[in-house]
Amino acid sequence: MLKVIDLHASYGAITALRGVSLEVRQGELVALLGVNGAGKSTALKSISGVLRPIQGSIRLLDEEIANKKPEVILRKGISLVPEGREIFTGLTVEENLRLGAYTSYERTRYQNDLEEVFTLFPILKERFRQAGGLLSGGEQQQLAIARALMSHPKLLMLDEPSLGLSPTLVDQIFELIHSLRERGITILLVEQNAERALEIVDRVYLLKTGSLEFSGTPEELKSKLDIATVYFGGASDAEREVSL
Ligand SMILES: Nc1ncnc2c1ncn2[C@@H]1O[C@H](COP(=O)(O)OP(=O)(O)OP(=O)(O)O)[C@@H](O)[C@H]1O
Ligand SMILES: [Mg+2]
Repeated sequence: MLKVIDLHASYGAITALRGVSLEVRQGELVALLGVNGAGKSTALKSISGVLRPIQGSIRLLDEEIANKKPEVILRKGISLVPEGREIFTGLTVEENLRLGAYTSYERTRYQNDLEEVFTLFPILKERFRQAGGLLSGGEQQQLAIARALMSHPKLLMLDEPSLGLSPTLVDQIFELIHSLRERGITILLVEQNAERALEIVDRVYLLKTGSLEFSGTPEELKSKLDIATVYFGGASDAEREVSL
């Protein structure tokens, strides 16, 4: 589905990615983990076209999409829910959802998509006419994900969907991501909450200062405690063994 090869990206003089290669196959839920500043958001921004990579190949279903414009990449089927949600707070829930659907704006299809979204996110039906800014943090996150789904993405990319949510809402978001995967949606998930992510993902990539440090299954990562130590630093070995 998505194949990234030798991706390099920078912000002026600051190099953020140095030769990252990763793959997301059809139907997979893949996590991209790493500490603050590792380059996770930069990777998602490069894939979605918001940031132009300086080198490397990004292929969606064997078509090269590196250096294409964000709206072109969105239309080709990659939808990013950025860090911090970025819903339109002044617009209603309905208007937010309709904006997400602009690639498939046909009345009957729009209605069907809405019904599907309401099944996944009942709260959005209740709040349909309310301004997005009046929703709680967790509801706004649901709206952001729902909006991304309205474009029927081939690949959904989520940048830290659990950030800033209360423990109950974090549970809900992880359940939701898991259920999206069960519905066959292909997902690339960036998360700070590594432990929770490892519970639901098929495979993991671990970024460290712009380079890949590990790739494999959650089980393989857990068995490599040396890498886990670098990444999860802080807890004692005994605690780590329990928590991992
Ligand atoms: N707009 C920007 N201008 C300059 N440097 C940036 C910019 N955005 C990110 N960086 C730098 O690029 C590197 C990677 O940042 P990135 O946002 O990709 O990290 P991240 O893994 O998403 O971190 P976090 O977990 O904090 O979101 C960091 O060193 C960061 O300071
Ligand atoms: Mg980030």
